[in-house]
Amino acid sequence: MSDISSLIRSCDEWITPELLKVFDQSDSSDITVKAAMYSLMAGGKRIRPLMMKMTLEMIGKPGIEPDVRYYAATLEMIHTYSLIHDDLPAMDNDDLRRGKPTCHKAFGEGFAVLAGDLLLNSACERLLKTAMEKPEYSYASYMMAKLAGIDGMIGGQSIDLASEDKKISLDLLVELQDKKTGALIRSAIVTPYYLANKTTAVSASDDAVLALLLKLSSHIGLIFQIKDDILDVTSSAEVLGKNVGKDERDEKSTFVTLLGFDEAVSRLNLEAEGAMEVLRQLGDIGYNTSDYEVLIDYLVNRDK
Ligand code: IPE
Ligand code: IPE
Ligand code: MG
Ligand code: MG
Ligand code: MG
Repeated sequence: MSDISSLIRSCDEWITPELLKVFDQSDSSDITVKAAMYSLMAGGKRIRPLMMKMTLEMIGKPGIEPDVRYYAATLEMIHTYSLIHDDLPAMDNDDLRRGKPTCHKAFGEGFAVLAGDLLLNSACERLLKTAMEKPEYSYASYMMAKLAGIDGMIGGQSIDLASEDKKISLDLLVELQDKKTGALIRSAIVTPYYLANKTTAVSASDDAVLALLLKLSSHIGLIFQIKDDILDVTSSAEVLGKNVGKDERDEKSTFVTLLGFDEAVSRLNLEAEGAMEVLRQLGDIGYNTSDYEVLIDYLVNRDK
């Protein structure tokens, strides 16, 4: 069984060369490209590419590894754009991200808006390019775009902003978290499966493995965001690489602000048990889930 540091290190070595070539060398002096690359290479944990690599290895399809890597870089571009915009003064107004000044602090708000737009646009270009060159990947491309949109990340960010200063229901809080963070995590976990199945559309009701991967994604999405909310009160900017205490300051709706710290920890542990149960079921049908077990343990106990 691997330990989490070696899993993260080997993912970093896997994805970094792909990220370094997402923009043409001829565009590298453009300020918006510089701002996008600044945030892309600022030192994120690369958890979403790691989940894509782990799903690929779990389902045992080494032949599509270059394609999964391409899609993993694309998802990391979408994730990074979401963070650049999330940090803008009009949203969470943060000045520290990944241990460095946020994109708008380093390049100004105008270029940070453009850098986020560029990362999303370039990600869409990549999704369309593969869909043209390999039509059997069209569904994977479509789903990655969809999960970043109103039914996914943007939808969650929209509920998040609209819920500031309000006491929302637990159901709406779960929907908020499931969309704003869960959707890109779902994208990471299922995209390799869509690529491997070379399918134009696949439904969880006809595919038991997909149903389990979707269930796993829901648990991991909640684990990830509840832990993010907990770290906002327990960690420090030095360790986390981003400012803390922001959720209470901004009257955000999170598990911690809405239900209190102890409830948030209980829900985190419940989601972790749920994730482990799904892994047992995947194990029963023959998949090696040991790296995913290590990942879940890390996501529950991480300090950054
Ligand atoms: C931070 O995501 C934003 C959330 C969705 C909670 P990560 O914790 O994965 O951020 P990086 O990529 O490591 O900076
Ligand atoms: C943002 O959630 C999630 C995104 C979709 C970008 P947060 O606002 O809680 O993320 P942090 O704490 O700033 O990383
Ligand atoms: Mg936010
Ligand atoms: Mg934020
Ligand atoms: Mg947060």
